[in-house]
Amino acid sequence: MAVQKSTNIKWHHGKIAKEDRIKLLKQKGVTIWLTGLSGSGKSTIAVELEHALVENKHLAYILDGDNIRHGLNKNLGFSPEDRSENIRRIGEVAKLFTDANVITITAFISPYRQDRDNARKLLKEGEFIEIYIKCPLEVCEQRDTKGLYKKAREGTVKEFTGISAPYEEPLNPELTIDTSKMSIEESTRAVLNYLEEKGYVSFG
Ligand code: ADX
Repeated sequence: MAVQKSTNIKWHHGKIAKEDRIKLLKQKGVTIWLTGLSGSGKSTIAVELEHALVENKHLAYILDGDNIRHGLNKNLGFSPEDRSENIRRIGEVAKLFTDANVITITAFISPYRQDRDNARKLLKEGEFIEIYIKCPLEVCEQRDTKGLYKKAREGTVKEFTGISAPYEEPLNPELTIDTSKMSIEESTRAVLNYLEEKGYVSFG
């Protein structure tokens, strides 16, 4: 956990309550936390999900590992400590987006259970939906969309998740999507169905 270094700071409350933003946006904020191996389909599903939600007049926004590492988290690598800090920051950002009532879709490997649980704890009950984008390592390696598995096997990419760094499967995710058995369309549909069933969104 990060230490609180700054002192003499005080929380400032705004004039706008969460309820006011719910009325304005006609939706409640939620974090949809996608976790899984590189190449499992997190980013692809996130893109389809965001598109389907916005098409149906819901404000959704993706926080994606590769993208966030170009900016906010450009100073972090792939050591266990850096991955934890990556996820800690994203957990905090997701909390802010969720408070703003955006349907926040995160697509990070987030390999450590403890880090994901910490991100969950920042939000209220029902505001954090953990979705395990499950796909056997062999299938991810076969897809090798970014050529990184090959490099990891050769040893030119170090600490690669699934090869030379761990991935801890979720024990109790709200939803598991096996992308070796389901198409992108079916996977996206399964998430949308979950969101509709639980009342997060409505497709009029
Ligand atoms: S996480 O483990 O800290 O959650 P994150 O999702 O931000 O990872 O970034 C993963 C992406 O970084 C992968 O999809 C891949 O494109 C790239 N990457 C580069 N090096 C590594 C590595 N050693 N392990 C995993 N992913 C890596």
